[in-house]
Formats: sequence, structure tokens, C-alpha cells
Amino acid sequence: MDAMDAKAVLKGAIADAQARYKVANPLSDEAEENALTYLPGGNTRSVLHYEPFPLTMVKGEGAELTDLDGHRYVDFVGEYSAGLFGHSDPHVKAAIREALDTGIAMGAPMKYERVLAAMLCERYPALEQIRFCNSGTEANLMALTTACAVTGRDKILAFRESYHGGVVKFPGGRCELNVPYNFVLGDFNDIEGTAALIRGLGDELAAVIVEPILGAGGNIPGNRDFLNTLRSCTEEVGALLIFDEIKTGRLGAAGVQGMVDFTPDLTTIGKFIAGGLPTGAFGGRADLMARYDPRHGRGWNHAGTFNNNACSMAAGCAAMGKVYTAERAAEFLDWSEAFRLSLNELFAARDVPMYANGMGSIIAIHFAKEPTKKPTDITAGCQSLRPLLHMEMLLEGVLICKRGDFFLSLPMEESHLDKARDALGVFIDKHKLLIESVLAV
Ligand SMILES: Cc1ncc(COP(=O)(O)O)c(C=O)c1O
Repeated sequence: MDAMDAKAVLKGAIADAQARYKVANPLSDEAEENALTYLPGGNTRSVLHYEPFPLTMVKGEGAELTDLDGHRYVDFVGEYSAGLFGHSDPHVKAAIREALDTGIAMGAPMKYERVLAAMLCERYPALEQIRFCNSGTEANLMALTTACAVTGRDKILAFRESYHGGVVKFPGGRCELNVPYNFVLGDFNDIEGTAALIRGLGDELAAVIVEPILGAGGNIPGNRDFLNTLRSCTEEVGALLIFDEIKTGRLGAAGVQGMVDFTPDLTTIGKFIAGGLPTGAFGGRADLMARYDPRHGRGWNHAGTFNNNACSMAAGCAAMGKVYTAERAAEFLDWSEAFRLSLNELFAARDVPMYANGMGSIIAIHFAKEPTKKPTDITAGCQSLRPLLHMEMLLEGVLICKRGDFFLSLPMEESHLDKARDALGVFIDKHKLLIESVLAV
């Protein structure tokens, strides 16, 4: 197959899968159509849209979801990692019920945020003190403004293809919706280039913000030497190092910061820490966080009506205290990493150019023979194959993210993992030749 043929065949294969999907999902199709009047594109969260229309979900149980047309799926979307606890964890549900029964929106401190703050600070080495907010995006905005205010500087080094929230993201290097902060961009895992950038910015640099595993950019683990370089160079120029562990905080007992032998100055965390309910948090060195101490009227004013909302905080206490204990988190990392490695064994055995990037329960399938080490390794061919993988997996009852991400959740069992491996096997049987042709272009 030459280049033109491969592209045309791929286009046809995607159209064919979408046509089968459309026939199988008339009620989701109609629901999307009806939503178009008041929601632009029927949508209020862009990442949830895909062609020809997204499935409307009606019920979640354990690690499974049921859609409007009655199909049941193994849920590997896992709410983009916030769904670590699945859909019906009894401890999380009981905690939310208790909060509802006791009273919400009290406009006062409650026990829950105090208990959750203690749990998180005792667990994550870089968190000496913490403050809650409403989302991961907000947590990163707070960490960045804290860094600017503490240092009296305004430049922030972030990385191309990183994602730190709806208004702090750099797909293709920029985003028109970003907050107008003074961002300078480096390349993830580029040790020399980043060291030179940091030294060049010198005393203008307030902070470096990094996802220890570049998430939306392809679940690419940060090389240890790269992360070490960020630590030593920021110390050299007096800038703060911010670890965005909003996703990676679920890896093992204490996220990536529990695996490296240094501590970032500030950490942001969110998604899973409230058992699937909305939240975010930023924290770190006590001397920095002390600036927020409101006693004596000199503290920085950190506002947010729902910062300590009862349902999220109560769910968080149960989720992190009763369910995702440090021991459970360590076991889950091993179990999910074994699954990731088994996918790579499957791809190698079938001799197909596919690779499960990431770590543990955070996985992205790339169309490549080797692990992807930097975003520029991701080829146009790889990107063009993703919609086909996504549609075919959905048609096999395995829900994955449109960009090829898999997030494992605690209620998953071996049978769920088998279903994913089987569905990938079917996909490979059907499309191996096409994948090879597209990548050969
Ligand atoms: C690494 C990272 N940072 C920040 C965010 C933003 O979190 P939220 O969606 O809660 O605003 C996300 C969300 O996907 C994320 O993956």
C-alpha cells in the first residue's frame, strides 16, 4: 500500500467503524442532537466530544458503565483518572450520605477538611501544609500565583504538550484560552535545553511547573535525570519547582514525589483525592504556605466558596483513609503495572507497532514499536490511527479515551483486564496491515 492508499483505507475504516457505532447507538445519537440547542455542540466539557457523537451514560456500577442504548462497558476512561474508586464504592457513598444528612454549605470550617489535610500531608513527602480549592485547574493557578507572589518574579517555565488545566495547557505549544501569565515553554525530557532555559531566565523565573508524567501529552514518564535537573536548576536560580501530581498522585503510596529522592517546593493534587467528587489542592513547604495564615490579618486572602465543600471533603476522608490506603495504593500500582506490561507482551507477540506508554494505572496506547520518550516522537500516523482504535474498542464494549488513554480503577478485576486484552486482539487481527501501512508512510 502506498501513502495515498494507506490514508484512504484508514479513512474508510474509520468511517465504517463510525457507521456501525451509529447504528448501534440510536438513543445516544438522538440525545446529542437534542442537546445542541442550549449547549454548543451538545457539550460542556470539550474532551468528552468525539465523532460521530459521544455515548450518553446512564448508570455506573463498580468498574462498568451502561449507556442510553443499554450497552454495558468496562470503564477504562475512569473519569480521566478521577474515577479511581469506580462508581459504587460503599465507603465513599456512605461518607457522602453522612455529609448530606449532617448538613452542607455551612459557611464554616468542618471536621472533614482538617482530617483530609492531615491524611494528605502525612502521606505525600512534599506536602507540609495544604489548601483546598475546587479543581485541579484552580490548584495550579493558585500554585503559580503563589510562586509569583513569593519570588516577586513573573516568568513561568512550562512544557510543550503539558496539561495543567482548562486555562493552563500547551497542546501544540499554545492555547488561545490560557490565562495571560508570562509562560516560557521548554521541551519535556530535554535535559540540556531545559537547564539552559532555566539558567538563561535566571532571576526572572518564578517557577517551573511539570507533570512528572506528561499526561494528556501521551502519558510519557519524566526521565529521572530530567526531574533531577529541574530540581537543581530551580534551586540555582531561586525559582520554585511545582509538581503537578493531579493525576500521578495515584501512583503508589505517594505519587511520583514518593519515588524520587528530592522534594518539589509546591505540589498540586486533585482528581481522585475526593473519591470522584470535585476538588483540588495545592501545598508544599510550610514556610511558603504560612503566607496564607489568616490570623493577625496579614495572610494572603485565598478565597473560594466551595473550597471545603462538605460532600467532597467527606468523600475524600473515606476514599483516602478507608479505601486507598498507602498499602492498597502500592498493591494497585504493581497490579496495574503488570497489566501495562502484559499489553506490551501482547503487542510484541503479535509483532504489531503498538506500545502501552505510562506507568501503572495511567496508560496510553501509542502506535509505535518503542516507548515514546518525548512528545515529538509521536508521529502523525500514530495520531491518525487513534480514532480507529477508539471506535473499535467502544464497539467491543471497552470504553477508552479518544486519545488512547486507559485508566484502571480499584473495582476492576482480572476479567475486566482480559476483556481489554481480547478487544485489542480483535483490533489487531482486523487492522494490523493497515497500522503497518499507515506508519510506513
Ligand atoms: C495533570 C493535570 N493537571 C491539572 C488538571 C486539571 O484538573 P481539573 O480538570 O480538575 O481542573 C488535569 C486534568 O485533567 C490534569 O490531568
